[in-house]
Formats: sequence, structure tokens, C-alpha cells
Amino acid sequence: MCRSLFTSFLLLASASAAAVRSNWTAPAGVSTKAAAAAADSSFWLEDIKHQGIAAFNPDPSSYVVFRNVKDYGAKGDGSTDDTDAINTAISDGSRKGPASRESSTVTPAIVYFPAGTYVVSSPIIDYYYTQIIGNPNDLPVIKPTSSFTGLGVIDGDQYQSDGNQGWTSTNVFYRQIRNLIIDLTDIPGTTAATGIHWPTGQATSIQNVEIRQSADAGTQHQGIFIENGSGGWLTDVTITGGLYGANIGNQQYTMRNLTISNAVTAISQIWNWGWTYQGLSISNCTTAFSMNAGGTGDQAVGSVNIIDSSISDCSVFVTTAWTTNGSPASGGTLMLENINLSNTPVAVNSTSGTVLEGGSTTIASWGEGHKYTPSGPNTFQGTFSAPTRASALLASGTSAYYTKSKPQYEASPTSSFVSIRDAGAKGDGSTDDTSAINSALTSAASSGSIVFFDQGTYKVTNTIYIPPGSRIVGETYPVILASGDTFSDKTSPVAVVQVGRSGDSGSVEWSDMIVSTEGSAAGAILIEWNLNADSGSGMWDVHTRIGGFTGSNLQVAQCPTSAAESTNCEAGYMSMHITSDARNAYLENVWLWTADHDLDDNNNTQISVYTGRGLLIEGQNAWLYGTAVEHHSLYQYQFSGAKDIVAGFIQTETPYYQPNPDAKSSPYPTNSTINDPDYSTICAAGSGNCDALGLRVLDSQDLTIVGAGLYSFFDSYSTTCSDQNQTTKCQSLIFSVEGNSTSNLYVYSLTTVGTTDMIVTDGTVVASYSDNVDTFGSTLAYFTYNTGS
Ligand SMILES: *[C@@H]1O[C@H](CO)[C@@H](O)[C@H](O)[C@H]1NC(C)=O
Ligand SMILES: *[C@@H]1O[C@H](CO)[C@@H](O)[C@H](O)[C@H]1NC(C)=O
Ligand SMILES: *[C@@H]1O[C@H](CO)[C@@H](O)[C@H](O)[C@H]1NC(C)=O
Ligand SMILES: *[C@@H]1O[C@H](CO)[C@@H](O)[C@H](O)[C@H]1NC(C)=O
Ligand SMILES: *[C@@H]1O[C@H](CO)[C@@H](O)[C@H](O)[C@H]1NC(C)=O
Ligand SMILES: *[C@@H]1O[C@H](CO)[C@@H](O)[C@H](O)[C@H]1NC(C)=O
Ligand SMILES: *[C@@H]1O[C@H](CO)[C@@H](O)[C@H](O)[C@H]1NC(C)=O
Ligand SMILES: *[C@@H]1O[C@H](CO)[C@@H](O)[C@H](O)[C@H]1NC(C)=O
Ligand SMILES: *[C@@H]1O[C@H](CO)[C@@H](O)[C@H](O)[C@H]1NC(C)=O
Ligand SMILES: *[C@@H]1O[C@H](CO)[C@@H](O)[C@H](O)[C@H]1NC(C)=O
Repeated sequence: MCRSLFTSFLLLASASAAAVRSNWTAPAGVSTKAAAAAADSSFWLEDIKHQGIAAFNPDPSSYVVFRNVKDYGAKGDGSTDDTDAINTAISDGSRKGPASRESSTVTPAIVYFPAGTYVVSSPIIDYYYTQIIGNPNDLPVIKPTSSFTGLGVIDGDQYQSDGNQGWTSTNVFYRQIRNLIIDLTDIPGTTAATGIHWPTGQATSIQNVEIRQSADAGTQHQGIFIENGSGGWLTDVTITGGLYGANIGNQQYTMRNLTISNAVTAISQIWNWGWTYQGLSISNCTTAFSMNAGGTGDQAVGSVNIIDSSISDCSVFVTTAWTTNGSPASGGTLMLENINLSNTPVAVNSTSGTVLEGGSTTIASWGEGHKYTPSGPNTFQGTFSAPTRASALLASGTSAYYTKSKPQYEASPTSSFVSIRDAGAKGDGSTDDTSAINSALTSAASSGSIVFFDQGTYKVTNTIYIPPGSRIVGETYPVILASGDTFSDKTSPVAVVQVGRSGDSGSVEWSDMIVSTEGSAAGAILIEWNLNADSGSGMWDVHTRIGGFTGSNLQVAQCPTSAAESTNCEAGYMSMHITSDARNAYLENVWLWTADHDLDDNNNTQISVYTGRGLLIEGQNAWLYGTAVEHHSLYQYQFSGAKDIVAGFIQTETPYYQPNPDAKSSPYPTNSTINDPDYSTICAAGSGNCDALGLRVLDSQDLTIVGAGLYSFFDSYSTTCSDQNQTTKCQSLIFSVEGNSTSNLYVYSLTTVGTTDMIVTDGTVVASYSDNVDTFGSTLAYFTYNTGS
């Protein structure tokens, strides 16, 4: 998203391959060849036929999607300076770099690093829509020279000569870095150096990266530096040494399995609105987690959640500036749950000294901030009542939530893969690929093959069915584009992609793809998950993108903000439905986006695209890690009759065009079968605009949300209503709990922006923004609710 309103702190002074074990289970009688490969370090993505097509590129026949840096002259020999070769591999083909300040969906690229040691003397400049991927079976090492200069060995948003970042950081979407080692140890510790500079927005990820830094006294190295943005996802990162492991600020983020050792300060939180850390593993440091920037009187950190983590041999775990009467009132909100400390004498240190003793102990729960149980606010600093976690949500044999990183199939030989293009789909943006895809998926699932979606835009005119037994991986986000009459009736919705049908059970793994619609498609349910899934099934980096790109017919030309609402720009019934049949849906880094601006317009011009519902969850046993849902007219998240779910961080935005029309007057008629909100009742609770809810919980049990940011920035495209000290907010209410059977609902660190009432239960206002003012929005630390209590 794109409100560039936050002045951040710019602190410039400043492995081996992860065996991501697949839990996919072969259908009965199918032998998989997966075991065969591991002996050598070959990787299927390097060896597979490269025939991705950027369908809407001006010259699709010559545009190269997959770029092996060695094909551009990089040597990877540990001595040749490969900087220029690598940067040419990234920029080749009229792609959009930071100097252009533009985005583009027609120039997708994978920049691939085979095993080797690549010496660089200045930054690798990342471009828009780029996946930088190394060989996970023999991680390539990027090694800056001792005289390296620049901000970041990989610079995700290079500063330009005018002193500004190339792109507005909140608009940096669709990019990844995975399977690399960045070794800063040739740079003297006394020289400031940064592994990855990463101010980014949604649909971005860093996975399986190791950063090695100087641990010499006085080291000025920092592994990851993020000064702003609206992220984002990071997992399986290991950092050693440095002044900072990570020195990071952003609106919101989810980070998991981040291992930092031998740093002075492992994580320095520069600023944020909200952030969820899961599975931190920090050892041998002075301060494990610093969040006291700004001091008591001007706290910069809005809120932090840390769960399922271990801290050892540090002087202090958390440094905080929170006090009962600090400023802003909710600044420094903190929620800790299931943290093991070992030889760490101080757990939480405030500006006046120790507030929680450490040692070698377990912190079952501890927090500070404003509590609503459900009435409030009550200011607390101490333990809170944590939910009893459903055993089905736990990693087996532990008290930690189950997690599974994106499968990369690194142990599978190239012969395990079937190319969707070889199977007859064209992906050219115009051919109807429905039947080619459906038959390829069915046959791959029965033979145990992994389906490789070569880059392309695959037009479909009917439902794509992903059967149990499927494993599907995209080449830098190929697009399934729903088109035609089947998807046009907003009173008779049809799924574009179905993950299993009602009654199906088994495994599905799906990663690195986008589902979209073309033109008017008011009856499209973009993704419908019905599968009663085996544990280990899921979606990783699979997104919906509705409008705002070439080929969508939902761009500035068709859907300008100046036009009256019309069926031409009604483009989706619902982004995603996890139905009541669904079990064990696992979502990681999933961004369900109705476009607010045109990515292929040079000025990122705003557009008005109208969709109905965001994410409806009616199933049980689901993990929603690092998900975001934006700009749908009826709601962003709705949990209805759902049970046993953990979600965090969740982030939403209200449509910019609202309240013209508002949620009550959405172009999408409500459907009582799926319990759509009745805004004539809901909005009676508040005064102000009746805009779409960010989060609605209806008759659901055992739902834990670890970090939520529900944002309303606009009132008919004006942002005045979200200015920090504005008392007339953009919308009246954004989170509603209704029905008569909700139990064990827990929400940690709820931040709202531009909204008067933070929580409404059955029409009663429970929490107001003015009691919980935070760094930019308003935050409450803890909310728990049971119907009738
Ligand atoms: C990010 O930070 C830079 C440096 O302080 C600033 O120039 C830019 O405006 C900020 N962008 C956003 C979106 O906050
Ligand atoms: C964490 O990441 C490391 C490095 O990629 C990996 O070896 C390990 O298996 C991961 N652990 C978990 C719990 O995911
Ligand atoms: C702990 O970290 C320091 C650098 O901060 C390093 O010098 C020392 O060797 C580390 N100790 C161990 C046991 O790794
Ligand atoms: C903490 O330690 C206990 C006992 O050693 C272990 O069972 C638990 O899984 C650990 N928790 C974390 C978050 O590492
Ligand atoms: C805790 O904070 C106090 C006050 O700022 C400071 O004097 C002390 O050194 C800190 N202790 C640790 C272990 O960081
Ligand atoms: C209402 O939802 C049900 C269940 O998804 C669906 O079958 C029906 O077609 C929908 N009706 C309308 C009018 O949207
Ligand atoms: C695989 O699934 C089994 C059974 O559901 C579970 O016990 C195990 O922890 C899973 N393993 C991985 C690596 O996901
Ligand atoms: C886009 O920006 C360019 C200059 O940067 C300007 O010439 C052009 O008129 C703008 N287009 C629109 C549609 O605003
Ligand atoms: C909002 O009010 C606070 C406290 O009065 C003040 O510090 C801050 O600068 C104001 N912010 C804006 C954007 O006016
Ligand atoms: C409350 O429960 C009753 C009986 O189960 C049901 O008929 C009614 O629809 C429920 N009301 C709401 C608002 O969910």
C-alpha cells in the first residue's frame, strides 16, 4: 500500500542448505524418485527447460525470464569481480529498476545463482518483480570485497541522487531472495556494512539466507536493514556477528525462524505499527531485542509480538521504553508467549531498570499495554491469560505452533517435474488453457509428478481443479487469469481455482503463483479451499491480484477513479474461501489484493476496482502466517463458524473509494448463506462512514490472532481522515464480533488506523481509538472474548 506518510529513522551509521522436508504424501501405489537426487548438488530449477514467457511483455519471444548469472558472465570463482555481470543479469530486457521509480508486471524475472563464490565490489541492485534464487543444495556465497561500498550487498530499494529511495517502499511488491550466503567478513568490522537493504511491501519474502558478519569489538555490520515499507515475510534466516543482526522498521511484518548469534544487538526495532516474530533463536549477545527507540517520551515502536522463541547467553532479552504513562499511550506494546530463556539474567529491562527477571526459565506469557477482557482498557505489565493451544495446531511433540517453510523440492530430480507448457497449456494470455491445465493437474497428481508452471499468463474460462496429491510450483508468479461469462454473475459465484472439492482429502502443496481475473468477473471466487488436507499441505507465496496490471482490462483506461461505479470494474465475488469442509489449510505469505493502483502505469495512478469479499474462513485447523487482505467492499477477513485457528500477522486495508459507495451500498448483494455482514445493523453502533470491516468474527471458537493491523487510510481517495491527530476518522468501525457462540477468541496487538471504534461486539463499542493512541494508529495489547461473558 501506498501512503508515504511515515518519517522513519534512517540509521545508516550504522549453512548449509535447509532441508525443507516435504510432508507431501504420494497417492497409493505411486513411487516417487525424490530420494535419488540428494547425492549431488544439482537443483532442478537450474536444469529444467526454461521456457517461461512474459505474456504481456512488448516482445515476449525475446524477453528472458530465467537468468543464470553465469550466462551473463559471472564467474563465481571467488576472485573475479562479478558485480557488473550480476547487475546485467538483473537489468537485461528493459526492466524497471529503482532509478525508473516505476513498477511493471510485464518483466518478471528469476535471477539464479549456481553454487560458487561471487565477489562483488558494490551493491547488487534489485529490480521490480525479481526473484533472486540460489542453489539450495550448495548455497552460493556472495562475498563483498574489503573495500565494498554501498548500502546493502543486495539493495532492494536503492537511494537515488535526490536522496530518496527509488520506489516508494510501500509499493515494492512481488519479489524474493532465497538460498544464499552473504559473507561480509572481508569488510573490516569498523566499516559500516549491510547484508540486505530491504524496504519493501507485500508479497515479498526472504527465505533460507545466511549472513556472516564481523564479530570484532566495535563491529559496525548489520545483517538486514529495513527503514520502512509495508511488508512482508522472512523465514529461515541465520545471522552471525554484527552490531545488529537485523536493524529494522516497517509498518508491519511477520518473521519466523530467525537465528542470530554473536551480535551486539540481535534485533533492533527502529519503529513499527505492529510486528510478529515466531521462532526467534538468539544467542550470545548483549541485547536480544531492543524496542526502546525514542525513549519513554517519544516511543517509536508501536507493538511487538514474540512467540515460540529461545534466547540464550544474552545480557538482556527485551529493552523497552514502555511505562504506565509513557507517550504515546500505547507505544511499546509487547506480547511474549512461550519463550525459553537460558543464561539471560534480565528478561525485560525498562528505562528505569529490570521489570522482568530472567535467568534460565520459561516465559509462558508476559506483556505490557492495554488489556480488554473484553471490557477495558486496563493497563497491565505482567502475565496474561494465554489461550490453550489446540494440539492439532502444534508441531508434534512440542508446545510451539506447527510451521512449514515453502517447499523447494531441492531433493527431487528434474525428472520429477512436468512443465505445464509441455503439457499443452500456452500461457500466452489469450489461449483458453482450462482443459490443458485440468488434465495436466489430474495426471500429475496420479503419477506423483510436480507441476511446474512456467512463467506465463494462463487464461481460463472455467474452474481449475487441484486434486489431492498435487504439488504445484510457479516460475516467478505465473498468473491464472479467469475470463468470460462463467465468472460474470455476482449472484451465482464460481470458483476459479479449487483446492480439492467437497469431500476430498489428501495433500496439496502450491507455491509462487497469482490468481487474477480479466475485466468484469463479479462471480469469481478466485481461490476456494475445500480440501480436508493432510498436515503439511498449504499455499506459500500464492496471491490474488485483482486489476491493476496489463492483461486485466482493469487498469487506468478502464477503471479510472473518476468513473462512476459500473459492472465493467466489478472484478471478483471473493478473493478466497476456506470452506467448512476445509481442514489443515496452511497459508504463508499470502496477499489477497484488489488493486488500488495500476502497476503498469508509469505514475502508479490509482484505480477503482470493485470486489465483494476478501478471505472467508469457515473451516477448522488453519494456520495463517503473514497474510494480508486489501480493498474488498464487504469485508477483508471473516471468520464464520471457524475453529482452531492461529493467524499472525494479519493486515487489512479498506477500499479507497469508500464510502462512495460504502459497505452498505456495496455493488455486491449480500448472501445470507455465507453470512455476509448486515451493515444496516452493524453500522448502527458507530457514527461516521460505514466502510468495510477489516475483521469480522462470527460464531467461531479457539481463534488466536497474534498481531493485527486494520487500516483505513482514505475517505473517497482523501487521506485527511487518517492524519494522526484527526478526530474525524475515515470510518467508524473496523472489527466486529457477532453471533452467540464465539469462544476463546484472543487478539494480540491490534492496531487500527483511521478508525473511531477499534472493537465492536454485537453492536456494543468495546474499544475506542482515543484510549489507545499509538505511534501512528491506535493499539491495544490484548483482547479476549467469549459470547455472553
Ligand atoms: C522511507 O524512508 C526514506 C528515508 O527516510 C524516506 O525518504 C521515504 O520517504 C520513506 N518512505 C516511506 C514510504 O515511508
Ligand atoms: C530454520 O531455518 C534453518 C536454516 O534454514 C533450518 O535449517 C531449520 O530447519 C529451520 N527450522 C525450522 C523450525 O523451521
Ligand atoms: C560471542 O560473541 C562474541 C562477539 O560478540 C564472540 O567474540 C565470541 O566468540 C562469541 N562466543 C561464542 C561462545 O561463540
Ligand atoms: C522450551 O524448553 C522446553 C523444555 O526444554 C521445550 O519443551 C520447549 O519446546 C521449548 N520451547 C521453545 C519455544 O523452544
Ligand atoms: C537496564 O536499564 C537500565 C536503565 O536504563 C540500565 O542502567 C541498565 O544498564 C540496563 N540493564 C541491562 C542489563 O541492559
Ligand atoms: C450464496 O452462497 C452460496 C454458498 O457459497 C452459493 O451457493 C450461492 O450461489 C450464493 N448466492 C448468491 C446470490 O451469491
Ligand atoms: C508430517 O506430518 C506428520 C503427520 O501429520 C507430522 O507428525 C510431522 O510432524 C510432519 N512433518 C513435517 C516435516 O512436516
Ligand atoms: C505521468 O507522469 C509523467 C511525468 O512523470 C507525466 O508527463 C504524465 O502526464 C503523467 N501521466 C498521467 C496519466 O498522470
Ligand atoms: C499529533 O499530536 C502529537 C501530540 O500532541 C504531536 O506530538 C504530533 O506531532 C502530532 N502529529 C501530527 C502529524 O500532527
Ligand atoms: C443464536 O443461536 C440460535 C440457536 O442456535 C440461532 O437460531 C440464532 O440464529 C443465533 N443467533 C445469531 C445471531 O447467531
